[in-house]
Amino acid sequence: MKTPDEFTISRRGLLKAGAATASVPAIGAAAVAAAPTRAASGPGSSTVTLRVNGKTHRLVLDTRTTLLDALREDLHLTGTKKGCDHGQCGACTVMVDGRRINSCLTLAVMHEGAKVTTIEGLGTPGKLHPMQAAFVKHDGFQCGYCTPGQICSAVGMLDEIAQGIPSHVTADLAATPQRTTVEFRERMSGNICRCGAYSNIVEAITEVAGVKA
Ligand code: FES
Ligand code: FES
Repeated sequence: MKTPDEFTISRRGLLKAGAATASVPAIGAAAVAAAPTRAASGPGSSTVTLRVNGKTHRLVLDTRTTLLDALREDLHLTGTKKGCDHGQCGACTVMVDGRRINSCLTLAVMHEGAKVTTIEGLGTPGKLHPMQAAFVKHDGFQCGYCTPGQICSAVGMLDEIAQGIPSHVTADLAATPQRTTVEFRERMSGNICRCGAYSNIVEAITEVAGVKA
């Protein structure tokens, strides 16, 4: 068995090894960049028309393209985030025809003619949506990665309560759901915040909902 001294690596040898290791991600990145993720045309492609934030877009997409990828990669609306890409974090939440959905879990071609609202369409820097303004006021974020999804989800969630849609914590399914922090926390449980800004997020939602915490 070798002693620790026998494992000694010369400085030149170490630099060579480091350079070789450093080149691995570069080669990997080039390979990924060259690999087509979505065919622009061909037997697997399809045309879809989406009305996104008030503008109509006609896209030719590989039919396997998720709505999230169409928004980010084709329309360059990168406000919508890709966290898990598996429907588990809520970072990709957008509104489609007035309902909040995880855009990573649905194919773009399933939404022909749909009205899509992303965080870019909710408000503008000069005129924030009330939910955006409340998140700023209550410090409802730290790194901000989950925030677009949280805000879109919160807007959709309040609409769902207004429409009388119950949740798992609604005690009386026959009555109109109440706008309580218990309801907010349950209905926002699909939006994960790694920074743990939950209490401030609930404060922001509570203010927009016009109720006392
Ligand atoms: Fe869609 Fe996480 S990226 S739920
Ligand atoms: Fe960082 Fe939510 S603010 S993940």
